[in-house]
Amino acid sequence: MNLKEETQTQLETKEKKYSGFKLILLGPPGAGKGTQGQTLSAQYGIPKISTGDILREAVANQTPLGVKAKSFLDNGILVPDEVVNGLVRERLNQSDCREKGFILDGFPRTIPQAETLKRILSELNLALDAVISFELKEADLVRRLSGRRSCPNCKMVFHLVFNLPQKPGVCDRCGNTLIHRDDDKEETIKTRFKEYQEKTAPLLNYYQSLELLYSVPGNGTIEDVNKALEGILSNKKIE
Ligand code: AP5
Repeated sequence: MNLKEETQTQLETKEKKYSGFKLILLGPPGAGKGTQGQTLSAQYGIPKISTGDILREAVANQTPLGVKAKSFLDNGILVPDEVVNGLVRERLNQSDCREKGFILDGFPRTIPQAETLKRILSELNLALDAVISFELKEADLVRRLSGRRSCPNCKMVFHLVFNLPQKPGVCDRCGNTLIHRDDDKEETIKTRFKEYQEKTAPLLNYYQSLELLYSVPGNGTIEDVNKALEGILSNKKIE
């Protein structure tokens, strides 16, 4: 059984191994945060919170949040901190995060966001277990983003070469039509990389100094990266 089938089975039938991890997945666009986040979420029964998914959903539904966020997403620029902080605060206050932990995918993205997260977690009497950084070269990232296909409904992520859906153009999990994200165009990708280098990369030192940072090579297969993550988490078992 391959990893994707195994993940699906875990989602549907298997007992969760254990839960309670509070994790941040950090890395440039296309590094594999969403892919590994969705697998870990199924493996450990922990909710994955992707600020990108929440914002894209809001844009698609033309909610007040979506109207505010649209031009930032379209141009590959970070949405203002106060907008994103509010939605993460609301999500982390929900009972599943307190009971099962959480996997943050794409948050925090700036030092002020990290400071806000610290305050939210302290209010909730929770502490982070690990911040996992995915290391990958820019050429590999571009290849990943240009071939990515995403499900706008259940948020599963596929790739035209590296992670094919069983039926072309159709989501394995929910049967929805897969899309190529609007911000995966060449020009927008360049802006997203620049935003990452300027605003997000400083978080590596921030979390290193808190002794929370773990790096995984992002250039192995999806299964290899998952094994590396499992190795990190196996040393951090929550009782
Ligand atoms: P967001 O949705 O967070 O995008 P991102 O950080 O640019 O990350 P991606 O989703 O592009 O990549 P990923 O690392 O998840 O890679 P994936 O697993 O899909 O943010 C989008 C926008 O929202 C931002 O630009 C900003 O405007 C706004 N935003 C979001 N959060 C914000 C915040 N906190 N503050 C302010 N603004 C915010 O993988 C990519 C592809 O590679 C897939 O096709 C996958 O199948 C494939 N793949 C994955 N792993 C492997 C592997 N090991 N081998 C081969 N292929 C692989």
